[in-house]
Amino acid sequence: MEDKMGSECEGPEMSLVCLTDFQAHAREHLSKSTRDFIEGGADDSVTRDDNIAAFKRIRLRPRYLRDVSEVDTRTTIQGEEISAPICIAPTGFHCLVWPDGEMSTARAAQAAGICYITSTFASCSLEDIVIAAPEGLRWFQLYVHPDLQLNKQLIQRVESLGFKALVITLDTPVCGNRRHDIRNQLRRNLTLTDLQSPKKVNSIPYFQMTPISTSLCWNDLSWFQSITRLPIILKGILTKEDAELAVKHNVQGIIVSNHGGRQLDEVLASIDALTEVVAAVKGKIEVYLDGGVRTGNDVLKALALGARCIFLGRPILWGLAYKGEHGVKEVLNILTNEFHTSMALTGCRSVAEINRNLIQFSRL
Ligand code: FNR
Repeated sequence: MEDKMGSECEGPEMSLVCLTDFQAHAREHLSKSTRDFIEGGADDSVTRDDNIAAFKRIRLRPRYLRDVSEVDTRTTIQGEEISAPICIAPTGFHCLVWPDGEMSTARAAQAAGICYITSTFASCSLEDIVIAAPEGLRWFQLYVHPDLQLNKQLIQRVESLGFKALVITLDTPVCGNRRHDIRNQLRRNLTLTDLQSPKKVNSIPYFQMTPISTSLCWNDLSWFQSITRLPIILKGILTKEDAELAVKHNVQGIIVSNHGGRQLDEVLASIDALTEVVAAVKGKIEVYLDGGVRTGNDVLKALALGARCIFLGRPILWGLAYKGEHGVKEVLNILTNEFHTSMALTGCRSVAEINRNLIQFSRL
C-alpha cells in the first residue's frame, strides 16, 4: 500500500509513530482547558477508559498460509467507496486546536479517501468546509434543535451542499457532566473567544451552543424522513432494543457509540455493545462503531464483530493539534497502515474476509 505521507514522515517527526504519540504531543502543547475539553469523559470517566480497555480484552486468532501479498483495505459505506474502514467522527470546535479547524480536517479526509462527519458544532461554516474539500465524502451530524423549522432549514442546506447522509445523535438529550469543563468554565470561554470569531453564515442561524431537543422521540423520525432524501444514521445506540426500533423505523444505519464516554457514564464500552446491536439488526442496515479505536488491531476487532467501519473522535483532534491537515493525514495514514498489517498478519486479503472467527474474548 502506498505510503501517503511520503517524505513528510521523514526527519524528527518520525517520533510520532502511533495514535497515542499524538495524544502525548497534544497533552503537552494544548492549553489546559482545550486539553480537558478533548480528553474529558463524563462523571468518573469509567466508560471513556473502558472504551480502550475493552478492546484489549479481545484476543486475535490469526490464520496463516493465505497469500497476503495483496491486501485491500477498501470498503463501502452507504454505497460509497472509502479507502479503508477508518473515518472521522463528528467533534465540535476544531478551530480550538488549529486556525482553520474543520477546513483542514475536511482536506485531510478528502486526501485519505474516507468519510468525514461534520458536527453541528463545527467552528467553520459548512460552505467553507465544502469549498476546502469539494470532492470529499461528507456526512452531517445533527443535534436536533427544539425548533423543528430550524432543523429543516439546516438539513436542506446540508443536502444542497452535497452531504451524503444525516447522522442524528441520540445520546445527548441533556449534556453529560463533564467536571473539567465545569471547573474550567469552558462553555463561557468557548462562547466568548472562539464562537464569535467564525464568519456569520448566511441568514440561517448557526446552531453553536444553542439548545438540543430534550423531547425527541422515535415517532419524530418520520418527520425527518419526510423532509430529506438523505439516508438517516442514528448515532449513540447501545442496546438491542433500540437497534430493533431503528430497523423498524426504517433508518439506514446505526453508529454504536457512547459519545467517547462523554455522556452517560458507566454504560457499556462501544465494542462490548456492538455484538448485541449487530445481532439485533440481522444485516438489514449497516452498523458502525466509534469509541476507543486507537490501533489497527482495534479496527480489525470492530469489523470482526460486525462493524462496517469505525469512526475516530479524539485521535483526529490530536492530529489536527499537531500539524493541521498534515497531522490528521498522518493519524489516518498510521492507522490505515496498522490495519493493513493487522489484516496481513491475520490472513485477511479483503475486509470481506474479516469475520467473527478471528477473535476470542479473553478471560483475563
Ligand atoms: C465529541 N463527540 C461528538 N459527537 C457528536 O455527535 N457531535 C459532536 O459535536 C461531538 N463533539 C465531540 C467533541 C469532542 C472534543 C469529543 C472528544 C467527542 C463524540 C464523537 O463523535 C465520538 O462519539 C467519540 O469521540 C468517539 O470516541 P473516541 O474516538 O474519541 O474515543
